Order: sequence, then structure tokens, then C-alpha cells
Amino acid sequence: MFAMDMRQERISLLGLGSMGRALAGALIGAGHEVTVWNRTPGKAGELVARGAREVSSVEEAVQAGGLVVVCLLDDASVREALAPVVRGLTGRDLVNLTSGSVQQARELAGWLGGRGVRFLGGGIMAVPSTVGTEGAFILYSGARDLFDRVAPVLSPIGRPQWAGEDPGFAALYDMAALSGMYGMSAGADHAVTMLHAEGGDLETFKRAVLGPWMEQMLPIIVAGADPSATVPEEYNPGMQAVGLETILAASGEAGVPAELSGHLRASLWRMRRAVDAG
Ligand SMILES: NC(=O)c1ccc[n+]([C@@H]2O[C@H](COP(=O)([O-])OP(=O)(O)OC[C@H]3O[C@@H](n4cnc5c(N)ncnc54)[C@H](OP(=O)(O)O)[C@@H]3O)[C@@H](O)[C@H]2O)c1
Repeated sequence: MFAMDMRQERISLLGLGSMGRALAGALIGAGHEVTVWNRTPGKAGELVARGAREVSSVEEAVQAGGLVVVCLLDDASVREALAPVVRGLTGRDLVNLTSGSVQQARELAGWLGGRGVRFLGGGIMAVPSTVGTEGAFILYSGARDLFDRVAPVLSPIGRPQWAGEDPGFAALYDMAALSGMYGMSAGADHAVTMLHAEGGDLETFKRAVLGPWMEQMLPIIVAGADPSATVPEEYNPGMQAVGLETILAASGEAGVPAELSGHLRASLWRMRRAVDAG
């Protein structure tokens, strides 16, 4: 588990979905005094057994004092949960780990900041099973002094990583990184669908071909990602455009649904643009 030099703190956590429960577990495990609230009761049993205090309203959670950490479904649920208690949050510190858009994070920061709440937006770069493990990291943006104070406190959930003073930047990095992940995920789904349709051995393909190939290419893909029409020299966009057309044809021959090949068309578009740009 990643943990910075840490002092114990009182934390109120709003939201006990699968991510909220994982966060609460890591914070309790680190010795923090954790109060939990969830809209639907009955999800805190194991956490209470480990020392958490469960309360039945957001108001009670806020009254417990200390840092407020929010991990609900989306921006609308955060607004709905906080609206009745926002006056009681004046002068308090709040970290929102709920996923949302850049604009939503900026507006939430403005709404809370206007009521004297110190705010950090967050982006959880982990899934519940990896919370608190070596690879997990959490993006934060907004009030730098608040980040400096709470980074050690929240380090048990994942390595804290600063994303900038714009409160929307944690969400920006989060959304952009997820976009990269879903691209890989779509590519892997398309790959196994095509393989399966043509009678290939799925397990051997995943273990001996797809995994090692994606691992080899990942650093090259990340380094070569570019928002302009340029591509790295070794990409040879003319050759790649022909290659992508061949994969799309093979996919069609195998009867793979067109919806699964959007990433191939996106890459083809990029290569053609690079060819056109010379
Ligand atoms: N799970 C992941 O792998 C993962 C990874 C990174 C980031 N995240 C982010 O973490 C956040 C929580 O994800 P999760 O996996 O815990 O989702 P989840 O299991 O679906 O839980 C959603 C939580 O939001 C609450 N909620 C929904 N609508 C609400 C409302 N109107 N008012 C109050 N509470 C409301 C739910 O309460 P009830 O129990 O009452 O329905 C529940 O506590 C999301 O923003 C997600 O994008 C998740």
C-alpha cells in the first residue's frame, strides 16, 4: 500500500457504492476516524465492524467535523446531497472524488467556494479492488494549500498526484486517461470478437499474442499520441492506412459488428490526415 507520513484525521465519507466502500476501508485501515453516510442504508455493516460510525443523514455526517470526502454516482447526485447542508460547510474542507466533467468540477468549485468551502476536485485512477495498492493514484486539483494538507491524510487510498489549480483539471486528466483506456478496451474486444468468429483459440491468443503485443506497443502509443496531424516518423502513415483498411476488411469478412470497429476508423482517419498533411 502507498502511504505518506500520515497523521490520523476525522473524515466524513459520503457514498458507499463499490468505490466508496473501498475508500472507506482503506481510510479505516490507516487508522482514520471515519464517519460514513449512504443514501440507501445497509451498506456499512462491514465498515462499522471495522470501526466506522454510520450516520443516517448528510447533515450528521457534516456535523461529525473534519474533512468531507464525497464519492457518489455523478455531479447531479453530489449537488442533490450537498444542497441541504451547504451552509454548514462554510470554513470546511471538501474533496470530491465523484467522476464528472471539467465544467461540472469548475462549477461545483465555484458554488462551494462562494460559500466559503475549501475545495479539491479529484479523479480516482483505480478500481475498487486496486484502491490502496501500489499502482493506484488519485488526481487532485483546486486549492493547492488544501492539497498539501490532505495529500498525506488521503494517501492510503492511492498515491496523491497534483493536477493543477484549475479545479477542473483532475476531471480533465481523469476523463482523458479513461478515453485512452476505453480505446484499448474497445480494441481488445474487437480483437477477440474477430478471432472467435474465425475459430481462433481465445485463451492462447490473449496470453501469447494480444497481451505481449499490447504491452510492447503501449509506451510507443502513449509517446506517439498527438493532437495535431503529425505522427512519429516510424509510423509510416501511408502504410498504416493500407493496413487499417485491411483490418477493417478482415473484420467485415468475419462478420464483426461495425459498432466494434470505431477505433479502427479513428486510426484510419488519423493516418489519412497525416498523409494529406505530408
Ligand atoms: N467503480 C469504479 O471502478 C470507479 C473507478 C474510478 C472512479 N469511480 C467513480 O466513483 C464514483 C462512485 O462509483 P461507484 O463504483 O461507487 O458507483 P456505485 O457502486 O454505482 O455507487 C453509486 C453511489 O452513489 C449514490 N447515489 C446515486 N445517486 C444518488 C443521489 N441522487 N443522492 C445520493 N446518493 C446517490 C449511491 O447510493 P445508493 O446506494 O443509495 O444507490 C451509491 O452510494 C463514480 O463517480 C465513479 O465514476 C468508480
